[in-house]
Amino acid sequence: MKKIKEKYGPWALITGASSGIGEEFAKQLGKLGLNLILVARRKDQLDHIGKTIENQYSVRVKTIAVDLTQERFLDEIRKTTDSLTIGLLINNAGLWEMGDYLGITLEDELSMIELNIKTPAILTHHFAAKMMENKKGGIINVASMLGYLGVPYSTIYAATKAFELVKSEGLWYELKKEGVDVLSLNPGLTKTEMISKYDFSHMPMSPLRPEKVVVAGLKALGKKSQVIPGTMNKILGILSKHVMSRDMNTKMFGLLIGKTNSKLKKTISHL
Ligand SMILES: NC(=O)c1ccc[n+]([C@@H]2O[C@H](COP(=O)([O-])OP(=O)(O)OC[C@H]3O[C@@H](n4cnc5c(N)ncnc54)[C@H](OP(=O)(O)O)[C@@H]3O)[C@@H](O)[C@H]2O)c1
Repeated sequence: MKKIKEKYGPWALITGASSGIGEEFAKQLGKLGLNLILVARRKDQLDHIGKTIENQYSVRVKTIAVDLTQERFLDEIRKTTDSLTIGLLINNAGLWEMGDYLGITLEDELSMIELNIKTPAILTHHFAAKMMENKKGGIINVASMLGYLGVPYSTIYAATKAFELVKSEGLWYELKKEGVDVLSLNPGLTKTEMISKYDFSHMPMSPLRPEKVVVAGLKALGKKSQVIPGTMNKILGILSKHVMSRDMNTKMFGLLIGKTNSKLKKTISHL
C-alpha cells in the first residue's frame, strides 16, 4: 500500500467519485498522497469531497462534473487531464437497475450498457495508451460478484459486470508486460446509495462498508487480476465456483434477488 504513490502517481482519476465506493477511493488515495481528479455529475458533492481531502492531506484535487453517458464526455475530461500524468484510472461509476426483464425499459438497459461498459472502454483506451508509453500505471475496473454468473432480475447489470471482469483478466496479462497493472474489483453487497433503494434484509450476509472494498482493491492491484472483498463473500465465491454448478448458482440468485425484486414491486405499487 505504501508504494501506491510511487507506482501509480502522481495523479489518479476516479469516476463516480461523488458517493459510495468512488468517494472512498478518493479519500484513501488522497491519504496515500496521490493528486486526484474526481468525476461524476453532481458538482457540489464533488467539490465538497475535493475540498475536504485537500484540507486534510497535502494533495491537489480537480473535479469534473460531467455525464459519462454523454457523447463527447472524453473531450470534457481531456480539457483537465491532457497536461497531467494520470498513473491510476479507477473505472467505478456504474448503474444497477433491478427488475423483471421487460420491467426495465430499453432506455434503462442501454444506459447500463453505456455507463458500465462503453464509458470504461473509452477511458481505458485513452489512458492506457499514455500509461504504456510511460511504462507505468494501474487500472481498477469496479465490476461485481454478480459478474461471475447469470443473475435473474439483474440480468443486464450482471452481464455488464461480466464484460468488465473478463476484459480486466485479458488486459491484466497483456498490459503487465507494458508496466501497467489491471484489476477487476468484484464487490458483493456494499453499503452505498446504489443499494439504498432495494431491500436486501433477507440476504445471508450484511453489506460491506466501502472502506473494506477499497482497501481490498488497493492491496490486490499489481498482485492478481481480480479480487472479491470480504471473507464471507470470498467463501461464497469459492462455494459457487467449486461446489455448485452454474445453473444451481443462477437458481440460488433467482431466489435471493427475486425476493428483493418482489419487495420492490410491492413498494412501487403502493406509491
Ligand atoms: N453497492 C454495491 O452493492 C455494489 C456491489 C458491486 C459492485 N458495485 C459497483 O460499484 C460501483 C460504485 O457504485 P456504488 O455502490 O459506490 O454506488 P453509488 O454510491 O450510487 O455511486 C455511483 C457513482 O456513479 C456516478 N454516476 C452514476 N451515473 C453517472 C453518469 N451518468 N455520469 C457520471 N457519473 C455517474 C454517481 O455520481 P453522480 O450521481 O453524481 O453522477 C456516483 O458517484 C458501481 O460500478 C457499482 O456497479 C456496487
